[in-house]
Order: sequence, then C-alpha cells, then structure tokens
Amino acid sequence: MQTTEQLPPAIQPDHRYEALLKVTGKLKYVAEFTGPFAKKDLLYAFVVQATIPSGTILSMDTHATERAPGVAAVLTPFNAPKLPAVTPQPPATRRLSLLQDKQVFYNGEPIALVVATTLDQARYAASLLKIRYAPTPAKLNFLDRLAEARPPKRGGKAAAEQSRGELSPSLAQATVTVDETYITPIQTHNPMEPHATIAWWNDDKLTVYDTTQYITGDKQSIAKALNLPLDSVHVICPFVGGGFGSKGSMWSHVPLAAMASKLTQKPVKLVLDRPQMFGPVGARPSTVNHIVLSASADGKLQAIQHDEIDHASVMEDFAEHATNPSRILYQSAANRTSLSMVDMNLGVATFMRAPGESPGTAVLEIAMDELAEKLHIDPVQLRLINHADRDPSEDKPWSSKHLKECYTQAADRFGWSKRQAPGTRLEGNDYIGVGMATATYPANRSAAAAIVRVNPDGTAYVASGTQDLGTGMVTLLAQTAARFLGLDIHQITAKCGDSTFPKAPVSGGSQSAASVCPAVEDAAKQAQLKLTQLAINDAQSPLHGISSTDIALRGGKIVQRSNPSVGEPLAALLTRNGNQPIEATGSAEPGEDKTSMSTHSFGAVFAEVAVDKDTHMVKVRRVVATYDIGTLMNEKTGINQMHGGIVWSVGTALHEDTVVDNTTGRIVNSNLAEYHVPINADIGTVDVTVLNIPDTKFNTLGARGIGEIGNTGTAAAIANAIYNATGKRVRSYPITPDKLMSA
Ligand code: MOS
Repeated sequence: MQTTEQLPPAIQPDHRYEALLKVTGKLKYVAEFTGPFAKKDLLYAFVVQATIPSGTILSMDTHATERAPGVAAVLTPFNAPKLPAVTPQPPATRRLSLLQDKQVFYNGEPIALVVATTLDQARYAASLLKIRYAPTPAKLNFLDRLAEARPPKRGGKAAAEQSRGELSPSLAQATVTVDETYITPIQTHNPMEPHATIAWWNDDKLTVYDTTQYITGDKQSIAKALNLPLDSVHVICPFVGGGFGSKGSMWSHVPLAAMASKLTQKPVKLVLDRPQMFGPVGARPSTVNHIVLSASADGKLQAIQHDEIDHASVMEDFAEHATNPSRILYQSAANRTSLSMVDMNLGVATFMRAPGESPGTAVLEIAMDELAEKLHIDPVQLRLINHADRDPSEDKPWSSKHLKECYTQAADRFGWSKRQAPGTRLEGNDYIGVGMATATYPANRSAAAAIVRVNPDGTAYVASGTQDLGTGMVTLLAQTAARFLGLDIHQITAKCGDSTFPKAPVSGGSQSAASVCPAVEDAAKQAQLKLTQLAINDAQSPLHGISSTDIALRGGKIVQRSNPSVGEPLAALLTRNGNQPIEATGSAEPGEDKTSMSTHSFGAVFAEVAVDKDTHMVKVRRVVATYDIGTLMNEKTGINQMHGGIVWSVGTALHEDTVVDNTTGRIVNSNLAEYHVPINADIGTVDVTVLNIPDTKFNTLGARGIGEIGNTGTAAAIANAIYNATGKRVRSYPITPDKLMSA
C-alpha cells in the first residue's frame, strides 16, 4: 500500500463546506422545510400512539376524528391497506408497526395515523379517537426480572459467549479481586432534528425526503416494506440534523407517510414530536454488568470476566455488546464474556453512538479504577502494566496502536502527578477529585463509491451517496476531491444525500470518512488518468507525448511532474478538447485490513470534578483527552466530533436516564425538560489532542473513523474522579446527587 509521503499535501479548509448556509439559516433540514412543495400543498400526518404496554386493540371509533376540521384521512388497523408480510431490512428482524394487525407491543407504539391540512388539525383530530383495548400482562421492571435472562437470538454463540484461557486456575493465581455489578440506564437519542419524512408519488414512483443516516438502506427498506421494485424509490436527504444511530435504520413512520400519501394522492409530511422520539425510533438498552477482575500483586491481570444482561424489546433483539472492551482492551491470562437478554414491552433498542464501547468502557473502566485502588497501583500504571500489544481476543496484530503515548501525553497535560488520596481535597464547599479511563472504538470500513466531474471551466464536482450528519462528511468530500485534483477547495461543488448517487455505506460505526474518502481519491485519480490521456494525445498541449507517469494535477493546472513549469490550466485543455466535462467514478473497499489485522482507535481521558459537600451536585471542571485515531482528516470538524463525544459523556456520567413507569410502561420523562442532557453550564474546559499518526495499513489516507470514540472512556473518568473527590463509589449511571447521598 502506498505511503502518505506520495500523496498530494492534505488540505485543511478553514471552515465547514456548508458553514455559511448553516449560520445564515439557509440550509434546511427535512423536519423544517416542505421540499419542492408550497406549504399549502402538503398534508400533515400525526402519529397516534398506544396507551397500554401490551394487549390488543378491540375497536377504534373514528367518527369524531373524521369529521374534525381539515382531516383528509384516518388510517387505523381496521382500514389500512394490506401490505405483504415482508421483513424489511436492515435490520432483517425488524417488526414494523404499519397498522397491519391489532396487537400492541409497547406503550407509545404507532397504532394509527391522522392526516390533515395542518399539523394542528391532525393533532387535534387524533385526540378525538376513541380506542378500546384488551390489555395483557406486560413485561416491565427490568432489574426485578434479571433471572429471566436468555441467550440473544442473533449473532450465534460468539455473540453470546467468548472465552480464552482457564478461568479458575487464573483466579486462584490472583491475590486481588474486584467483583462488582455495574448498571447503565436506557439512553434515548435526542438529535436536534427529530425524525421527519416528506413522501409523494408520481404514478408508481415514490420519492421521500427523509432524515436518515443511510439513504441506500432507507431505499431498500422502504421498497421492501411497501413491496415496491427498488428502482421505484428515490430517497433524498441533503443534511441530517443529528442521528447518533437512531437514524441508521428505517422506522415505521416512513412507510406510514408513504401510505398516507398514496391514499390522499397528495404529498404528506410527517415529523415526530419530541415525546414521540422516546420509544418508536430506538434507544440504547439498559445494561447490567457483572465484572470480575483478578490480578496478581504486581498488577498483572490474571482473569477478566464480564457477564452482560441487556433489556430487549419483545419486537426485536438488539444487543449492546458492552463486553467488547473487556475482550480487547487488556492482556490477561484468562478472559470470559457472556451476553443475555431480558424481554420487555418497550420500543426497540438500537445503535446509539459508540454502541458497545460507550457503556462498555463506562463500566469496565470503573472496575479497573477499583482494582488499582485495591492494588495500591496508580490507575495509569495499572493500564500500562496490562497494555495489550496484540488484540488479545483475536490474537492478531493491531494495524497501528499508540495508546501508551496517549496515556503519557494526556497525563502530562492534565497534571495527573498531583493526584491526591480520595476525599482529601476540599476547596471551599467542594470536594475536588481526578480520574482517568481508556477510550476505544473499532475502526470500520465498507465498500463505497463516488463520482468526480472536472468541468471545462476548471472547477469540479464530487458526489457520493453518503450523508452528512453534522459530522463534516461533505467538507471531507470537497477537501479530498480538491487534494487529488490539485484544485482549491472553493473550486469544488460537493454533494451527498441522494440515492441516485454512487452507493456509500451507512453513516454508522465511525466508517464514513474511512470508507468514502478513499473512493473519492480513486475517482479523482481516474479523472486524472483521463485528463492525462487527453493532454498526451493533444498536439497543442504542452504535455503532448510526455510519459503519463510524469503528469500531475497542481494548482488548477495539468503539469509535468518533473518540471511543473511545463503545463497549462485544466480549463485550457478541456475547452480546446470539445468543451465537455471529464467524468469518472471510483470506488474503494476494505482489503487485508479486515482479515489479518485488528483495527481500533484508542485514547486516554482525564477528568477533574468538583462535588458540593452538601448538595452532592457534581461539576466537571476539566476534561483532558488524547486520542490515537490515525490521520486527522480535518482539524475543525474532527476535533469538534471529539468535543461532542466528551460533552455527551458528561451527560452519560451525570444526567441521562430514560425513566420507565413500571406499571404502565410509559416513558415518564419523554421531553428535554426532564430527560437531562448537558448544557453549556455543565461543561468546564475540554482539551483534546490527537497523535495524528497515520494508520497506512488501514487505508491509503491513514485515517480511522472518529465519530464514536469521543463517546467512550469519559463517563468512567468522571465516575472515577467523583470517587477520588468523595471516597464514594457509585456503580450505577447516571451518578446523580441522590445516589451520592446514599452511597
Ligand atoms: Mo452510530 S450508533 O454507529 O450511528
């Protein structure tokens, strides 16, 4: 594979590609605009939700609803068009709520749709529906039903259980053991832009504007759910107002909007309101983690045991895999992990930013802190002693790993050496404490394609069927095309978010930059080849007859590589040769990185907290983190991703908790007033650096994805800092004042 020295110099744009549109409010998200239609030409749909957690719908009296002002249609399980019984994908096992039967699986499940001239009319008319149910006993109260845990339905034995080494002899070797249970709550995705769809038909062709992390998957899922040929569905999603995994797969409201549009013969807009985001569109499952860490007196881990129990919806099995970090993060003589699930009458659990590793590091890294305490070894030292030089779970080499430098660099910047014994640092009314943890997330890649077009005026266009979630993807498209075409970034028009563009993977699993940028690189190189051929064959070109390997694109010109003063502007070459654009598609896919190596990013996070000694309120004063993520592709959007992950982790540590009423199955705090996420006042200083060491075994650009690693490690660093401040160990997130008071 080529080394980065042979690549054209990287470009660092001074702002996001779409920054001006965003700060001037000109960029419109699906939830806030009307697509190609005037507002008055749209109908608005409102989702009606079940008010019992389990049972059957006996009847729906739609009389008053149908006669309410502006109502165009009322879809119920009693009149909805029958769809073929197909399972849409992805994911293959999803059971959608498309009004095809009268069963209720959770409180909040979509059970009807009211369509009207305005949203207010639809919402009011929905309130007039009279619904009778026959309730059945619901499976609620997760923590009281752990004994019902069963193996996961998907992923086979490897998902359920993994072990290496002999557990009992290793435990016998150990002199110090931590044996505790750690709990993480249900977390609900709350992107600023809620889920939103605008659907309309032209004869049998369906177009949807949808806010999604995966336009290609959305198209497939819609086609399958509605039994349409794949080519009849067109998905457009110019920008996404945040997704975090909840928009990685298609949920019921999307086909429901299409069904309503078909029925009314009008374009239909459907936006979930904030309470409707709690349940019907996924959440991170609650996890209970029994962790046993055993070490000899020198600090060497002899055994790691992690048994995870997740809550699962009765509708679909989704496993969090919080055991992932316990499998790969540290060397140990023996390692055993298991996973089981408890069925619940709740909405489906799904991917949430850093699925697995976010709660996984949150629990494992408290256990490591407890072990360090018992061993009287510094927590950083304990992690260095047990550093995994190879991936211990697969016994493979890492493609590139510089975690030790992360620990030492971040510890230095933080001032870790000044750490004091727990509960000994009182400043005014606050106990001050510091803590640290390891961050990790796998580096993924999938097949991706892109198209590049060089225009006769010397500007260029790049497009890929990826999507921009606010991550900076479209900036990376422009930046990568500019780099490999030798153009200024302002000469590039970049597009994504349309299912007619060349296919790209789901924007999930931190893979978009690592997958799509190499495809853009390939497309640009194909375009360069075509331009080179044009120049070589053109008697009027200054490059006529020169060897193709001696030609490069630089500064808007095509030049002789060995003598760049020979050449001409791209515009001159193209206008002289038919005045037509040069177009090329390119693609890239994972190679040996997938099989022979283990590809992960790592980091070290340090946190300082102040805990009020009377109220037990926690303030995170400082977070210092250093990550090893390969090449940093874009400083502004990349470091911004890390900041976002760290801010979210403050919420994971201290605030976020989806509270389920164990009698009714309702989400008690389904709004942003009571579902707490951090605000500016909750965030102290955040100091992030990256090592920026290219991982050229992973891809040509040396860049691993960074969307999710920022959401790992920090929660435990904060938990450990709280312990250092107060001497109180809380093993259940979020660490709220009441838990600290009673600890
Ligand atoms: Mo991310 S949870 O893989 O969308």
